[in-house]
Amino acid sequence: STTTTNPATNPATNPATNTSTPAAEPFRRRPFVGGNWKMNLLAAEVVALAQSIAAPGGGDGGAGGVDVVVFPPFPYLATVRPVLKPGVQLGGQDCSAEKQGAFTGQVGAAMLRDVGCASVLIGHSERRHGLGETDALLSRKIGQALDAGLVPVLCVGETLAERESGRAHEVIDSQLRGSLAGHAESALATLVVAYEPVWAIGTGRTATPDDAAEAHRTVRRTLKELYSARFSEQVRVIYGGSVNARNAAELLAREEIDGGLVGGASLVASDFAAIIAAASRRS
Ligand code: PGA
Repeated sequence: STTTTNPATNPATNPATNTSTPAAEPFRRRPFVGGNWKMNLLAAEVVALAQSIAAPGGGDGGAGGVDVVVFPPFPYLATVRPVLKPGVQLGGQDCSAEKQGAFTGQVGAAMLRDVGCASVLIGHSERRHGLGETDALLSRKIGQALDAGLVPVLCVGETLAERESGRAHEVIDSQLRGSLAGHAESALATLVVAYEPVWAIGTGRTATPDDAAEAHRTVRRTLKELYSARFSEQVRVIYGGSVNARNAAELLAREEIDGGLVGGASLVASDFAAIIAAASRRS
């Protein structure tokens, strides 16, 4: 790997090695780093991990600022909230497509908001593929998230078979169109899109920065076709799939990659801190 955290050789900070971005110019979009804890940890570990996480700039809009969001399992949202450092945000891993009522086991977007969440993951591949969630269902979940005032973090990404058959970009395009169906640009101002190729999630096999950047351009092209050029340039598109402390700097040095959605490495405090630091160098 060519990844390094040495500022002299880091393409994000050294214009001499930087071919894709203007020197010393902050990227326009505020970086976003999410820690998706999935179905891991019990209360004591959750608290220790949550206490360890800091948001550069305290989460405000200043230089070096990064939106840092942790996505704990539902039972620990209320446990985590009071121990988070200033600026670190809380998010839900999923929400119901229904507002409220007789839906045993489901969690409503308004409940997430009530317990202190700022955002919610929608359509993670472990739900699309493991639980059969469809784009039509995800569109309804986005509606619930928006109604509750949550930032929807919409996950899209192709399987290995889809990539190998040359259909990755078609799949990304179609997931976006299906999941965003019925939602107007004006309602989606806070939207974050997470490009997470299924073959890279939890496998240790990360997309190359070139492949990730290309997929992110596909996301923006679809958003431009669906909405407007302005919208497509403002939406944050983050990469997920085996992001770790070693490869984060190289990925986040690409203009197209506004941040990361991190699973395994977000469970290790020092690794997650290194990823946040890499994101902070974008702003
Ligand atoms: P991973 O998970 O970092 O463990 O690959 C990423 C995700 O599923 O969001």
